[in-house]
Amino acid sequence: MAPDWDKRYREGYAHRIRGPHDLLLRFAPAIPRGRVVDIAMGNGRDLIFLAEEGFWAVGIERSGEAIRLARAGAAWGPGLLGFVQADAAALPLKEGSAAGIIIFYFLLREMAEDVVRLLRKGGVLICETFLKRQNSIDRWRNPDYLLDDGELLHLFGGLETIFYEEGLRAEGGRARATAQYVGRKK
Ligand SMILES: C[S@@+](CC[C@H](N)C(=O)[O-])C[C@H]1O[C@@H](n2cnc3c(N)ncnc32)[C@H](O)[C@@H]1O
Repeated sequence: MAPDWDKRYREGYAHRIRGPHDLLLRFAPAIPRGRVVDIAMGNGRDLIFLAEEGFWAVGIERSGEAIRLARAGAAWGPGLLGFVQADAAALPLKEGSAAGIIIFYFLLREMAEDVVRLLRKGGVLICETFLKRQNSIDRWRNPDYLLDDGELLHLFGGLETIFYEEGLRAEGGRARATAQYVGRKK
């Protein structure tokens, strides 16, 4: 059964989650100026950073609770921010309309081609999520939403790879088995 994200957020899932992901901090300068879409944005930690950096940041998120948190977090000021409450897989995303796309800790393999189409030429995709190996480290997660080693390289094979790293990392005192991918549309 799919997790009830509204319930998770109400129960405090995101209370300690603040600030953008390190991979975004490192590669945001590679994104051309323009619109950046954050797919499954959660509490807006990355979206708000992007807006502060001067991007037109649009977050897509299915959970109304997550959007409520993002709106509350954004109250202190950034400029161009938009929230869309929707199933990311069902959106009519306009081809070539995004200078950047970020996807953190969300995996919907059937969206991969749409994601590549949504990027304009020169646009950058930044993506990070757990590998299947995480299940031997941490609590059990549904392997359907975890990556095989090397999988992102195939999933986004239509892009030019700028950065790829996978393996064990320490984050917030926890071990994480992740894949990090940054690619550019040729
Ligand atoms: C693990 S959280 C990651 C949130 C954020 N990207 C981050 O890294 O902090 C996964 C998010 O995906 C959202 N989500 C799950 N299925 C979705 C879908 N089909 N469309 C849009 N959002 C979805 C959940 O509501 C949740 O906020």
